[in-house]
Amino acid sequence: MHHYHIPPSAPASSASASATESRGSGHDGDDASSSGSHRAGAAADEEDADEEDQDDTTPSGGSSVHAHVYEGGLRYHAFRDGKYAFPNDEVEQNRDDMKHSMSLLLCHGDYFYAPIEEVLAAGGAEVLDLGTGTGIWAIELGDKYPEAKITGIDLSPIQPNFVPQNVHFFVDDFEEDWVDADNKYDYIHIRHTLFSIRDRDLLFQRALRHLKPGGYLELQELHFAPQCDDNSLTPQMPYAFRDYIAFLDAGLRALGSELHAVRTLPEDLHAAGFEDVEAATHKCPLGLWPRDRRLRLCGLFLRTAVMDGLRGLSRRPLIALGWTQLQIEMFLVDVRKAVMDTKVHAYFGFHVVYGRKPLA
Ligand SMILES: C[S@@+](CC[C@H](N)C(=O)[O-])C[C@H]1O[C@@H](n2cnc3c(N)ncnc32)[C@H](O)[C@@H]1O
Repeated sequence: MHHYHIPPSAPASSASASATESRGSGHDGDDASSSGSHRAGAAADEEDADEEDQDDTTPSGGSSVHAHVYEGGLRYHAFRDGKYAFPNDEVEQNRDDMKHSMSLLLCHGDYFYAPIEEVLAAGGAEVLDLGTGTGIWAIELGDKYPEAKITGIDLSPIQPNFVPQNVHFFVDDFEEDWVDADNKYDYIHIRHTLFSIRDRDLLFQRALRHLKPGGYLELQELHFAPQCDDNSLTPQMPYAFRDYIAFLDAGLRALGSELHAVRTLPEDLHAAGFEDVEAATHKCPLGLWPRDRRLRLCGLFLRTAVMDGLRGLSRRPLIALGWTQLQIEMFLVDVRKAVMDTKVHAYFGFHVVYGRKPLA
């Protein structure tokens, strides 16, 4: 993996401006030595928003790190075009930030479950966030632990311009070899990204190699299978959202990844060589049906994230199955009704799984 760096420039206050540039020598070097020559993040997004109305496939200008690809009115990353099946536009970024709030609410405010608090607070800890998206988790973690160094990697340059000085973003494909030293990281974090990984075994083994002995890999992922505890949804009932997920699963398989990979996560971490693998599951409601206020809010976040995401989530996977845009739109009419059906008390499992790299 060659890193395309979003290095901090001279800090204005406690935050630092960022810009993207390419560098092939790894992201463990001296960031200050890189002079940012390109822009990335919010400023770029505002400019690009004007282009979002384009209807056809339209590669935008600039280097592949900064460029975007437009399809059907949606914007996608251009670096390693096609690697991630979903858009990176403002709608998608808002959804990511909503899912961040939802995840924290579900986890009672905990940013991680692995026992790394002391290491983060002690100073000098190295944290890697794979598929960092808008970087919201990395930035907030960096604020909480100013002595830790947080690195976020993503295919899309969609991180903000002003970030804490201990937070660094790179545009890169984490499924390619990492240029980092072995035994570098104290903690590697993956959230809402597992469904996009092509070779999970290889990635987990790579994470193991680059973790320090005793370091942790943690994943936090939704299982996109509507479940129900009160028979308001049974397997026999027609439910277009269930059908939608089956098609999404098939479409992602056609594109090379696995929507339901979370099901075997603890076993997969064991198989890769992690020890003391722990797993916790929360129920994340879909909609406003729970009485508990915290869970109602989670349900609102998830339902909104699903409703806002349906178009963007569908396009590439369903087209990979041979659907036309019109067929997709017509199907989504029923799917939206199902998602908004207040009689159905559905939820997704939200799974937190972590494992430790053996000490020897
Ligand atoms: C749904 S977003 C999750 C963002 C973030 N982890 C969070 O929880 O807020 C998934 C992100 O993973 C990134 N991604 C997927 N595959 C990747 C890869 N091979 N290398 C780098 N980033 C990747 C996508 O670009 C996208 O921004």
